[in-house]
Amino acid sequence: MKTGNTTNDTKLGGRFTFPGTSLTVQRMGYGAMQLAGPGVYGPPKDPDAAVAVLREAVAAGVNHIDTADFYGPHVTNQIIKKALHPYPAGLVIVTKLGARRPADGSWEPAVSSQDLTEGVHDNLRNLGLDALDIVNYRAMGAIHGPAEGSIAREVTVLADFKGKGLIRHIGLSNVTAAQVAEAQAITDIVCVQNNYNLASRHDDALVDDLATQGIAYVPFFPLGGFTPLQSSTLSAVADRLGATPMQVALAWLLHRSPNILLIPGTSSVAHLRENLAAAQLTLSPETLIELDEIAASSVAEKH
Ligand SMILES: NC(=O)c1ccc[n+]([C@@H]2O[C@H](COP(=O)([O-])OP(=O)(O)OC[C@H]3O[C@@H](n4cnc5c(N)ncnc54)[C@H](OP(=O)(O)O)[C@@H]3O)[C@@H](O)[C@H]2O)c1
Repeated sequence: MKTGNTTNDTKLGGRFTFPGTSLTVQRMGYGAMQLAGPGVYGPPKDPDAAVAVLREAVAAGVNHIDTADFYGPHVTNQIIKKALHPYPAGLVIVTKLGARRPADGSWEPAVSSQDLTEGVHDNLRNLGLDALDIVNYRAMGAIHGPAEGSIAREVTVLADFKGKGLIRHIGLSNVTAAQVAEAQAITDIVCVQNNYNLASRHDDALVDDLATQGIAYVPFFPLGGFTPLQSSTLSAVADRLGATPMQVALAWLLHRSPNILLIPGTSSVAHLRENLAAAQLTLSPETLIELDEIAASSVAEKH
């Protein structure tokens, strides 16, 4: 792990500076996907509650919000703007490009130069920004995760927008290690956002490799996403520590590697508070070994 990019301010997990940037965030952030309607489509049932979650997060010190204009579509970004614009100094909003939502609510790739260009301008307009801090190119991949294949054309389009000043920094999402290397030959990559949690550990080597480069690894589905994590070991550890299973799952990620930044998603202020408090949970080496066995046993079950 490169030194100098994390500091020991533990309330929200310490700070992390995206490599080669002036953007420093608390390691505990917030993922805004849950603020759209059911199936991440349409408006939320309670728009005021969505605004309240965002304001509570920022009031608590969160300065890293993950979003996409295809959440809703447009809905999540518009709620972020309504809740937080004009944005406080230091707030880093990370968005992503690469998908669209047809009227049937499905997810389709949107990767032509025109799609990506429209995506940049949709994000700027709906967030009320002149430039986007970080944009992840989100590869569609296969059903269960990333799929190999060149992403050079799409990353080059984003790099051109960086040259024009509309995107400040570039990240990747749902990608393989080979795709990260391919993108790095085109432009600097400051973060990678893939599916990773206590039970889904296929990116272990990538997490470690990015750590040596000082690049942020931002797990999506940190709590299991649409299928929340469930494990008797997790529940037993949580009981012993007087915490909730979700808090232990988040604390485990913070302990896993100093380049891991968290963006747990929730539509509830109560869950938000619970999740933020996880940053203050210390896990002993013995507990970490115990929690590592969750992934080992879930791999064994699949074979
Ligand atoms: N790059 C990508 O392809 C990609 C894909 C998916 C997500 N993301 C990003 O990653 C973020 C996190 O992923 P995610 O929101 O899908 O999944 P997640 O954070 O793993 O889990 C969210 C789910 O857990 C529930 N939850 C949250 N806190 C809880 C708590 N303390 N106790 C019990 N349940 C709790 C939420 O429901 P409640 O609303 O009821 O709390 C929601 O159903 C997203 O918000 C999004 O920004 C990126």
